[in-house]
Amino acid sequence: MKIELKPFSKQLSESELLVIFRFEGGEFYPTLDAAGLAKAPALKQAIAAKDIKGKPGAMSLLYLGEDSPTKRLLVIGVGKREKFRVEGLISAVSAAVWKAEKLGVSELTCYPLPLKDEGEAVKQTALAALLANYRFDRYLPKLAKKPRPSTLRILVGKATSALKTVVEQAAIVAKYQNFSRELINEPVNVMTPLEFASRVSKEAEEIGLQCEVHDEEWIHKKGMKLLWGVAKGSEEPPRLVVLRHNGGGKNAPWLGIVGKGVMFDTGGLSLKNTAGMLSMKADMGGGAATVGALLAAAALSVKKNIIGIVPAVINAIDGRAQNVSDIVQSFDGPSVEIVNTDAEGRLVLADGLSYARELGAETLIDICTLTGASVVALGMKVAALFTDDDNLRDIVLTGKETTAEVFWQLPLFDHYAEALKSTYAETKNSGGRWGGASTAAKFLEKFTDGKPWAHLDIAGKELLDKPWLCYRKGATAFGVRTLLHLIENR
Ligand code: BES
Ligand code: MN
Ligand code: ZN
Repeated sequence: MKIELKPFSKQLSESELLVIFRFEGGEFYPTLDAAGLAKAPALKQAIAAKDIKGKPGAMSLLYLGEDSPTKRLLVIGVGKREKFRVEGLISAVSAAVWKAEKLGVSELTCYPLPLKDEGEAVKQTALAALLANYRFDRYLPKLAKKPRPSTLRILVGKATSALKTVVEQAAIVAKYQNFSRELINEPVNVMTPLEFASRVSKEAEEIGLQCEVHDEEWIHKKGMKLLWGVAKGSEEPPRLVVLRHNGGGKNAPWLGIVGKGVMFDTGGLSLKNTAGMLSMKADMGGGAATVGALLAAAALSVKKNIIGIVPAVINAIDGRAQNVSDIVQSFDGPSVEIVNTDAEGRLVLADGLSYARELGAETLIDICTLTGASVVALGMKVAALFTDDDNLRDIVLTGKETTAEVFWQLPLFDHYAEALKSTYAETKNSGGRWGGASTAAKFLEKFTDGKPWAHLDIAGKELLDKPWLCYRKGATAFGVRTLLHLIENR
């Protein structure tokens, strides 16, 4: 979808679909006078009949008559003005894009809803529209596919070069977040570790982002036995994807981001049931978010040094699959007793975190669909943050005002580590059910060597079973925006 900026005027312009908004309580945004709609008879009638509602999600479609250059008017309810935040803008813009698709119109025009300033409003409008317009439909017959709108016109005071830059940057973020969503949406019969690595390296090459892909032999020789232990249960060989963006120059510190890349999680010998497995093609969501954020940061020429690491594996049950009770030596950390092969994410992340340190990362972030326990605690719309670093905490928690990704902090108290005590090795890989999100975090902490670290458990947020914000059913690539926010603000 092309995004154009157009100066607004009181004169209605040539458009198939104009979108305006109404707050609960009656206020239109923009005012009908400013929008050139004060005299539109169809609108007057609808208002008099009390047909136009301001409740979030309410939509009224009006036809403005043969003489009007604007054919259709869509009024979208955006709720109470005092409660209005970025989520309200995202939902309203997405509703408009999806309505345009349903109507079969190729172009729509809208006003940016009020945020802290016009730049922020334009950025969020463009991003929401581009993310809403994404659809995973490559396996559907052509006939079943409605064409999607191809142009969004955003009406602004003045189409300055600063605003144009804002739109270009939003398009970059959306491009790579949608790229990540495609990686997640593809099922594992397509999205193997090899396919993941090859799509990522091709994309990285296009923008000159440094990308190294290590194969199973390298992983084995290097002694990443935790990663290897998970990988060997699948016929499909693993890959370790390493992305490096050196935008901060020689002396700037490196931020290391490690994303869980379990392309499919059967649970291994601790096998999941069918219902539990159904969403597990998205168990590489953290890895997809990591590559999306690095690609975007590189394309935006962010002046920071970042390493992105994705251990890409399938947790399956081939004849060589690891057993419950196996004891495995980590790459740089404790020996691990595998008491549950379904606690595989922390194993591949452990070696990934150690490798990030070896490559010189001074601050560590990991992002992963790690525990069902975090979904039980926080639900499908809030992700879990674990950190002892006040600066990282503040960046992640306050990010929601621009990222619309909400995190809530869960504890890292030392006593959670007691559940990980093993008789035969230095640690177990699972501390059981109680406090499962925190005991998983304590396991990962053992591989950070005291470096500043934040652990983002995004389980349940990567694959939706119904639309939410700007996402249709399917992959979100939740975390791309938070990681970018971290990269820019750390
Ligand atoms: N990938 C799952 C976690 C998950 C669950 C993600 C639901 C998204 C939705 C992870 O590998 C896993 O299986 N975790 C186990 C850990 C347990 C065996 C200690 C879990 O949460 O049940
Ligand atoms: Mn698992
Ligand atoms: Zn998993």
